[in-house]
Amino acid sequence: MLFKPQKDVIVACDFSDNQIFDFLEKFQQEDLFIKIGMELFYKFGPDIIRKIKKKFDFKIFLDLKLHDIPNTVFKAVSNLVELEVDFITVHASGGKEMMMRAGDAAKNSTTKIFAVTVLTSMPKKSLRKEIFTNENLDSVVLAYANNAFDCNLSGIICSVKEVRRVKNKFSDLLCITPGIRYEKTDIKDDQVRVATPEKARREGSDFIVVGRPIILSDDPLSTYQKIRKEFTRTDL
Ligand code: C5P
Repeated sequence: MLFKPQKDVIVACDFSDNQIFDFLEKFQQEDLFIKIGMELFYKFGPDIIRKIKKKFDFKIFLDLKLHDIPNTVFKAVSNLVELEVDFITVHASGGKEMMMRAGDAAKNSTTKIFAVTVLTSMPKKSLRKEIFTNENLDSVVLAYANNAFDCNLSGIICSVKEVRRVKNKFSDLLCITPGIRYEKTDIKDDQVRVATPEKARREGSDFIVVGRPIILSDDPLSTYQKIRKEFTRTDL
């Protein structure tokens, strides 16, 4: 069945320790969607998800970016869906058989699978020099989107710059876009293909993932509210 969620901001909780709980306390009144990545998962294991779920009623995107042989990914996804998280990720470069098996493992669960295309930290020139492909970046993202669509996944992770092209071809494929900075002039850190929340909204992103601009802000709650307002506004 087609999955059509509300547009939302996903807060990337990239902390390496229990600090996350103090951080989340600030959002008690919000209907929050959080991203838990490798950093916390590799430190605390699945208990970090159970503990968050016990304390907070937040939606969870568990971003572990699985990439292995199809059988291993099948078994890994079978274990992850037991945590009843909302979204998980696999790398599209793992291939169609791998994505199919990931989908098989999640089919009796409520967990949705998204395929990571080309990381937002990767510049165009690295595709040729380090990934050894002569295809241009937009074509690679589109080809990965095509594979994710064929494998019946819920969507892809890409940069805002690629969303319109993906949506033109695969309108039902959801696009989650990291690499968000509030102002064009904000510090990019290790991100390369960046965009503002406003641009993400105009290009048709379904979800934006925002980490450092919120978690390192002096007032994370108001920064989150400002970004969310900008991304979800319908009056423009
Ligand atoms: O701090 P910042 O907003 O740059 O964090 C972006 C978050 O999105 C990080 O948690 C990172 O792992 C995640 N992400 C990404 N690019 C992808 C997939 C996920 O930056 N392609």
